[in-house]
Amino acid sequence: MPYVPTKEILGDAHAKVYGVGAFNINDLEFLQAVIGAGAEESSPVLIEVSEGAIKYAGYGQVQRGADTLYAMVKQYADTVKIPVALHLDHGKEFKYVMACIKAGFGSVMIDASALPYEENLKETLRIVEIAHAVGVSVEAELGTLKGIEDNVEAAESILVDPVQAEDFVKRTRVDYLAPAIGTSHGAFKFKGEAKLDLQRLKRVKELTGIPLVLHGASSVPEEMVDLANRYGGKIEGAKGVPFEVLKECVEAGINKVNTDTDLRITFIAVLRKVLIEKPGEIDPRKLFGPAIEAVKEIVKARMRVLGSSGRA
Ligand code: G3H
Ligand code: 13P
Ligand code: ZN
Repeated sequence: MPYVPTKEILGDAHAKVYGVGAFNINDLEFLQAVIGAGAEESSPVLIEVSEGAIKYAGYGQVQRGADTLYAMVKQYADTVKIPVALHLDHGKEFKYVMACIKAGFGSVMIDASALPYEENLKETLRIVEIAHAVGVSVEAELGTLKGIEDNVEAAESILVDPVQAEDFVKRTRVDYLAPAIGTSHGAFKFKGEAKLDLQRLKRVKELTGIPLVLHGASSVPEEMVDLANRYGGKIEGAKGVPFEVLKECVEAGINKVNTDTDLRITFIAVLRKVLIEKPGEIDPRKLFGPAIEAVKEIVKARMRVLGSSGRA
């Protein structure tokens, strides 16, 4: 099966109550790991790229970055049997959203969550009208995640108001909603126990009836944090969303599970180890190879936990 619209993948996940990991990539190495995992698990695959990824891939040029990432993903999608879709993560600037639609992305996120409610709604509606006209689906966010988001640091998360979520979805006709329920981006999500507001999540699902998205969903695998630290890393006190909590989120209505940090930590941990163990190696492909394989295993584990394995 080739490149498909995001809606096909998330529509099925919503109807049959399972989760699909949306994995952030910036380059060919992470793409290989994620597509390889999907192929081995017979899982649908959602690839997502941030504005930063687009800038990186385009070496500063936005349209070139969006086109390059699309071409890479499309090429790989067309040579595997599983469905693969491409999504813009946290689109904040209009020019990035437009570049992705023009490039052929199946969906875009408009993240105007830092704006006051009515302004978020207005900006989301503007993007929905453009995107839907050309068959592209749209994700939006309500509430604020703790930590750094939209380049603004929030000390506390502002959780989504379910009644507001219902109004927002009705008025914008957005396809997927990311409700803030207590997660945060990056490797340091919780000081103590991982606590998410699952009751609030259930209420949002009941009132909106659309696929929901969990941002900041990485589990921050302890063995990878330890490995990185053993080989010179300094990642102290990292903590993510445990697998059991992810499962509860999927049961409560989450279908798209955004994951970036787990891939980053894994790749860097293994790369650190290989660099130390093979000081004479200068071929990047031989240094990256074991890191790609490790990322693939981490992605496969998430596909199994979320229930997307065997769905393709
Ligand atoms: O939520 C953000 C993603 O982890 C992407 O991060 O903007 O550093 O590419 P980035
Ligand atoms: P993590 O930092 O938990 O991987 O979250 C990624 C994310 O939400 C991308 O939008
Ligand atoms: Zn996010």
